Amino acid sequence: MRFIFRPPAGDAAGLLTLPWHEPLEEWKDDRLLEMPHRGISRHVVRFVEADGHIFALKEINERLARREYRLLGQLESMGMPAVAVLGIAVERGQHQGLELDAILVTRFLDFSMSYRYLFSNRYASFPEGKLVDAMVELLVRLHLAGLLWGDCSLSNTLFRPDAGSIEAYLVDAETAELHPTLTDGQRDYDIRYAAERVGGELLDLQAGGLLPEHVDPIGIAMELPQRYHALWDELTREEPIDPGDQRYQVTKRVERLNELGFDVDELELVTAEDGARLRVRTKVGVSGHHRAKLFALTGLDVTEGQARRLLNDVVSYRGHLERKEGRAIPETVAAHRWRAEIFDKVLGLVPEELAGRLAPAEIFHEVLEHRWFLSEAAGRGVRTTTAARSYVENVLPGLPDTLTPAATAQTDSGVDPLGDDGAA
Ligand SMILES: Nc1ncnc2c1ncn2[C@@H]1O[C@H](COP(=O)(O)OP(=O)(O)OP(=O)(O)O)[C@@H](O)[C@H]1O
Ligand SMILES: [Mg+2]
Repeated sequence: MRFIFRPPAGDAAGLLTLPWHEPLEEWKDDRLLEMPHRGISRHVVRFVEADGHIFALKEINERLARREYRLLGQLESMGMPAVAVLGIAVERGQHQGLELDAILVTRFLDFSMSYRYLFSNRYASFPEGKLVDAMVELLVRLHLAGLLWGDCSLSNTLFRPDAGSIEAYLVDAETAELHPTLTDGQRDYDIRYAAERVGGELLDLQAGGLLPEHVDPIGIAMELPQRYHALWDELTREEPIDPGDQRYQVTKRVERLNELGFDVDELELVTAEDGARLRVRTKVGVSGHHRAKLFALTGLDVTEGQARRLLNDVVSYRGHLERKEGRAIPETVAAHRWRAEIFDKVLGLVPEELAGRLAPAEIFHEVLEHRWFLSEAAGRGVRTTTAARSYVENVLPGLPDTLTPAATAQTDSGVDPLGDDGAA
């Protein structure tokens, strides 16, 4: 066997002792995990825990494995929301006279969920519009980067809660092609294909009785292209600029793009006889302002939406401290104190067996939401720690588990057997 990988891979050394010379389907090993809520796939896909990390293994033809390995690596360097690839195993020897296929190893996307899991769980009440928006944003980002996906579907996307919203990640790049730029025709192909697949996948869920009543598969499928075009237009349109109002217009446009989660790479003002026009080039990678700021201030590494939420809480805590202590407090000091006195204290109330339900920052976000509900109900402000205790007692135990080292350490199967509905 030969294992080709992208550094750093020091955390994956334990993988080398897996039974690579056997067909993946037949592997028996304590480190293998059941993943009941994964998407539907043609290939054998299994999950394994090694040295505290979870990896996804997909058995696939060597040529395709090498392609997908290379593409996922390129997407990662561009900062695209996609699963991170670790490596490929090739030359695994023969089984019953036939060469074994290669195995592509990707890093399991922590706290991620498949659409089937989303719809069949608590997230059933999640506005499905946000799911479509997340997918559309992913597709637009990939297209801006020149990636023709060729197989955009709910099954090939992973979802992750993001402070009341949801993030979508590409999980399957088998058919994808990277070009310098895409033509309208290429983009159109991807959009149409996506709409068809999404409609079909939702109809399947509906037929299996797994879709909440109010969700309309055809309506969603038809909305997808509209939402795509609206976002694409916002990001790429050229607009006439009024010279007297230029600064305001440029600021407005940049702000709007930031709001949509995109950063501006370059602005271009083109003057012609019929007036000036503003052209914008957006950065394709995921916007990371808030993420980077929160990390620098507190050492917490979270998603962009979570970071925005947590930073707001840091600001309000700073205000609270300044009022209480009657002096100005620097942002860095306030952030450190917030981390120790608020964030860590709240997370400290979460018992170990519930820690795998949601990412820590997502739990914190939910506690803040819960505090708001409790305060409304009580007609007065409720303390964060009070809200946290109530959340841990009344809400968190009702949430489904996700596949994380924290969760799997608790129980053997780790997760409830949802998703085994025969549709896979
Ligand atoms: N790194 C990962 N993290 C989390 N889940 C993953 C990961 N890799 C794969 N999965 C899960 O496994 C499922 C199947 O993976 P994938 O789509 O790559 O397989 P496939 O057989 O190539 O699919 P297709 O039938 O579309 O060709 C995904 O839908 C996803 O739910
Ligand atoms: Mg797939």
